Order: sequence, then structure tokens, then C-alpha cells
Amino acid sequence: MKDYIKVFAPATVANVVCGFDVLGFAVNEPGDEVEMRITDTPGVTIKRITGDDGKLPLDAAKNTVSASVQHYLQHINRLDVGVEIELHKKMPIGSGLGSSSASTVAGLFAINKLMGDLLTAKELVPFAMKGEELACGYGHADNVAPAIMGGFVLVRSYDPLDVISLPTPEGMYAAIVYPEVDVPTKDARQMIRSKVFLKDAVTQWGNVAGLVSGLFMKDFDLIGRSMKDVLVEPTRSILIPGFEEMRSLAMENGAIGFGISGSGPSVFALAKDEATAKKITKAQQQHLNKLNINSKAFVSSVNAEGPREIK
Ligand code: HSE
Repeated sequence: MKDYIKVFAPATVANVVCGFDVLGFAVNEPGDEVEMRITDTPGVTIKRITGDDGKLPLDAAKNTVSASVQHYLQHINRLDVGVEIELHKKMPIGSGLGSSSASTVAGLFAINKLMGDLLTAKELVPFAMKGEELACGYGHADNVAPAIMGGFVLVRSYDPLDVISLPTPEGMYAAIVYPEVDVPTKDARQMIRSKVFLKDAVTQWGNVAGLVSGLFMKDFDLIGRSMKDVLVEPTRSILIPGFEEMRSLAMENGAIGFGISGSGPSVFALAKDEATAKKITKAQQQHLNKLNINSKAFVSSVNAEGPREIK
């Protein structure tokens, strides 16, 4: 059995506008990397973290990667195993791109490979949800499930957990822009109303069903018509500078649909091809420049495979 592995796990766009806490998809860029080594001393340790500007804990009990690896080892009854982890952050933290999920999933994929693929991708989801609980106070699956399983994923139910892989229409690209302002997930969640009107709920579940149907039917128009959120976006978008202008720029430049990525501040658009996606992010970044806001852009196809071993 191998005693070393290096893994890439993808960033994810959660919610996909109308599917708050139940829809997400993975992208090929950005993503995080984990190097994992089996050692002779039992226990899980974090040896090094790069690219985090010192923001993430090295304490193995507090770090989402080590904590979920520990949880996995406990589950398979292998607390005798020693594991040393190096985490390489390759994406912004607190950006709404599933940064903690990517790290946690990379770690779980790595340990599962080193232990001989004992669990399936779907079976790893609850372990990654524990990591999310540690990172932001609640264990949602709309980032971790697509990060592990790849493609678009629907969380049909949390109790019992029921995650379903959805098809990804060929050629679809994501155009992501991260305005460099601070919007912690915890704060973005507090913005949301806890009670909704029935008429808004009707609109929302119509759109979720429309989006899922659009993915199956490969119908970009239907997907675009369904990318509307009447419950969460109206309040959360207030925290994102230039949000409405970025929407207009996305749609004017050919986007299928546009919205907040996860809890923000990143925004994303879906596009029919790479050239359109690049046009969208360019226009949006120019707008943010005018507002004196630094930004990062990521143009990526949808990641269909989830995490992968890298050299
Ligand atoms: N569904 C979660 C939320 C995702 O919107 O709060 C957080 O990235």
C-alpha cells in the first residue's frame, strides 16, 4: 500500500442561485492541494500550511482537514495510523468558493486512497460535512458534495442525507469573479430571513425544479430562466459591491444566468463557452476597478470528476 499521495480538490459554487443549501457544482479551477504521508507515530498532524497568510489553524483538532481525517480513521477503526498533512491553499479563503470544503475534501480523498478506497465518494460526504461544521458552524453539503462527487449535485434531503449527481451539459463554463471584500459565511447567513411567504416559496421551488430539468434536458434557456432567487439573494447581495451592475454586465455579455457563489462575495455566471465566460469576467473586473475594488477572476469548465491524484 502507498504511504504518500498528493491530491487536488476543486472549488465549488454552492446554491446555484435558486437552490439555497441544496444545489452546487464543482469547477476545475481554482482548487486546493493536500500532501499526505503515513508515519509510524499514531495520530493526525498538520506539518505545514502554505498560501493561507497564517489564517488557518495548525492545531489538528481545530483544522478542518485533520479533524475530518481523524474522524474517518475513527470510523474505519484505524486510530493506530499516523498521518502527516501539508495543505496548500490555492484559492482565497472566505470567498464563497467552498475554500474549506476543497481542503477538507482533498484530505478525505487522500486518506481514503491511502487506506485502499474503503469508502465511496458518496460515503465520504458526511465526513466532509463535519469539517464544514467546524469551519462555519453548520454542516451544509452543497459545497462538499460536488467537491467530492464532481459535476452538479442536488442535496435532496439532509436527514436522512440523500445526495444526487445531476448531469452537466457539455461545453458549460463558469465565469467567477471574487471582489476582495470580507463577507464571512456566518454573517451572510444571518442576513437571511427565517420565515418566507408561500408565494415566494412557490416561485423558488418552481425555479429549482426548472434548473434541474434544464440540466437534464441540456436546455440553456430553461437553466437561465430558472436562475432566479427571491429568498436569499435580495438581502445577501447588499453585502456585494457592484452586484446589480455585475449582473447587467454578465447578461449583456451573453451569460446563461448570474448570481452569488455560495454566501458570497464571489459572483458567478454560467456561459455557453469559454470565450463568453472570459468576456463576462473582463467586463465585471473593469467595473470593480472603477469602484476601486481589487478582484480575482476564474474561468473554468465544470469539473466532472471531483478530486484527483496529482504529481
Ligand atoms: N449554502 C451555503 C450558504 C453555502 O449559502 O450559506 C455557503 O457557502
